[in-house]
This record gives sequence, C-alpha cells and structure tokens, in this order.
Amino acid sequence: MADREGVAVLGAGIMGTGIAQVFAQSGFSVAQTDVGEAVLARSRETMRRGLQSLADKGRIAADDVAAILGRIRQTAVLAEAVADADFVVEAVVEDLEVKRQVFAELDRAAPAAAILATNTSILSPTAIAAATRSPARCIGMHFMNPAPVVRLVEVVPGILTARETVEATKAMATRLGKTPVVAKEAPGGIVSRIMMAMRNEAVDILAEGIASAEDIDTAMKLGAGFPIGPLALIDLVGVDLHVTNSETMVRETGNAKYRPHPLLRTMVRAGLLGRKSGRGFYGYER
Ligand SMILES: NC(=O)c1ccc[n+]([C@@H]2O[C@H](COP(=O)([O-])OP(=O)(O)OC[C@H]3O[C@@H](n4cnc5c(N)ncnc54)[C@H](O)[C@@H]3O)[C@@H](O)[C@H]2O)c1
Repeated sequence: MADREGVAVLGAGIMGTGIAQVFAQSGFSVAQTDVGEAVLARSRETMRRGLQSLADKGRIAADDVAAILGRIRQTAVLAEAVADADFVVEAVVEDLEVKRQVFAELDRAAPAAAILATNTSILSPTAIAAATRSPARCIGMHFMNPAPVVRLVEVVPGILTARETVEATKAMATRLGKTPVVAKEAPGGIVSRIMMAMRNEAVDILAEGIASAEDIDTAMKLGAGFPIGPLALIDLVGVDLHVTNSETMVRETGNAKYRPHPLLRTMVRAGLLGRKSGRGFYGYER
C-alpha cells in the first residue's frame, strides 16, 4: 500500500472530533474542517480533554497531548483542508443532500488519487459517490461512537467502488489500530441494522408494560453481556436521531421490523431527546 500520510476529516461534531483524534494519535497529519471557527475550537477542546484524561490515566505520555493536538490543523475552508490529502473521511451531518454537495466539492478540491470515505451511518455510499466524477475512489468507512474507543470499522463499498479502494481503506483502518470488516452496501450495515431492530424491540417491551426501563437495560447487560442497555443507548444516541434512522431503515428495506414505536415520537414531541436534552428514558444531570 502506498504510504498515506495526509488526512482530511470533514466535520467537527461528535464523530469528526473522535475520528480526527484517532488519526492524529496514530501519527497522521490531519486537516479538519467544519462550517465555522467556533465549532472547530470546541472540537479541539473536546480532543484536548479526552487526551488529557488518557494522560492522567497513564495511557499516553503527558507530552503526547500537545504533540497529538499539534498534528491537527483546522480550517473552515473545505478546499484548503483537502488540498494535499491522500485520504479524506467525511463526517458531516447525516443528510444526503449535504453529503452530496460536500462530495461534489471534494471531487474538485482533493487530489485525484485521494480516497474519499464517508462515515455515514445509514445513507447509501453509492448515492453519495454519485455526486462525484470518480465513484471508484469513494467508499463508506463507518467508525462508531466513541471513535477513539470502539475497535471496529465497517468498510462499505458502494456498487462502483474499486477493489483497490476497499483494500486501502481496510489497510488504513488497521493502521489506526482498528479491526475492519467489509459489508456490502445495505441499509445500516451490520452493527446498526442489528442494533436498530434490538433497540426498537426494547422500546416495544417497555411500551407493552412488560418491564421497566431499568429492568430491560439490566436484563440486557447481565443476561446478554451488553456494555450498556438498549434504552440507555437510545438516550445516548438521541431519541430523535434514533427515530429518523429507524424510519430510514423502514423506507430503505421495506421491512416494518425496524419501525420506531409511537412512544418514541411522543417523546420527541415532548422534547425528551435523551442525554442531550437532560431527559429521555432516564433523567440526566445537566
Ligand atoms: N453520532 C454517532 O453515534 C455516529 C456513529 C457513527 C456514524 N455517525 C455518522 O457520522 C456523521 C456525523 O455524525 P455526528 O454525530 O458527528 O454529527 P454532529 O451533528 O455531531 O456533527 C456534524 C458536523 O457536521 C458539520 N457540518 C454540516 N455541514 C457541513 C459542511 N457542509 N461542511 C463541513 N461540516 C459540516 C456540522 O457543523 C457539525 O459540526 C453522520 O453521517 C452520522 O450518521 C454518527
């Protein structure tokens, strides 16, 4: 594999922040972009706190915090971020039109040999790649939250993705200390698809009055070895995002087993969005 050192990460939200940190921790120079300076500064501060906590626990050396952050350059101008990139990971909002616009711009602004990866959760990498003139170099590269911690990366080739792009993306994931699995393009890939059905089943059990939220989560943690219960996980992801993603799964697959229980819509209408609003299935200190 060619040595791919110049990396651009598009997006400085939850995932863009984690992904930029992962690359920088693995020694890559990273250019990170988002729509404005404030969100970029927030992202850098989140990374600084995450890295400092690793240093406090002795997982990285104290000097590494500044060294890793020093490998991340931030700019609000996308073309500037990708101008020298060999590998680009897009982690902007989960909106097909926004991603297609970003990929159309990427296609013009990034070097012709650069790989263009999208971190989309359930959109089609093929539909995103279709906004470019070079779909062979486009691919899904699905990091999971929190990206610095989760060891899996789903590599999702679109229908026109070249074999070399798949191999280079797998190799990149391995260089980042992750384990790649390849999943042909299909709504939700492997993990999200299974988790989506399971989370909705948990909400059904709650809404049918079979067990309390606490007992459902305890049952899945102690009985099935889950690190976090399915309802607590919906709170973490965001109830609204979970509903949108479930609806996309139903639309894309035509299979009602992914349908979100009406209780979830009622929760969204009431502003019970999970951790980010302070209350979902559980209450949170804000
Ligand atoms: N949050 C998760 O658990 C998770 C897990 C796996 C994959 N994903 C996927 O990762 C992607 C990002 O999700 P997130 O949770 O980080 O979202 P987020 O809302 O935290 O961040 C999205 C960022 O994209 C930025 N953005 C919007 N338009 C942009 C543009 N044109 N150019 C540059 N930046 C732009 C926003 O300002 C925001 O900072 C989505 O595709 C999502 O489906 C999310």
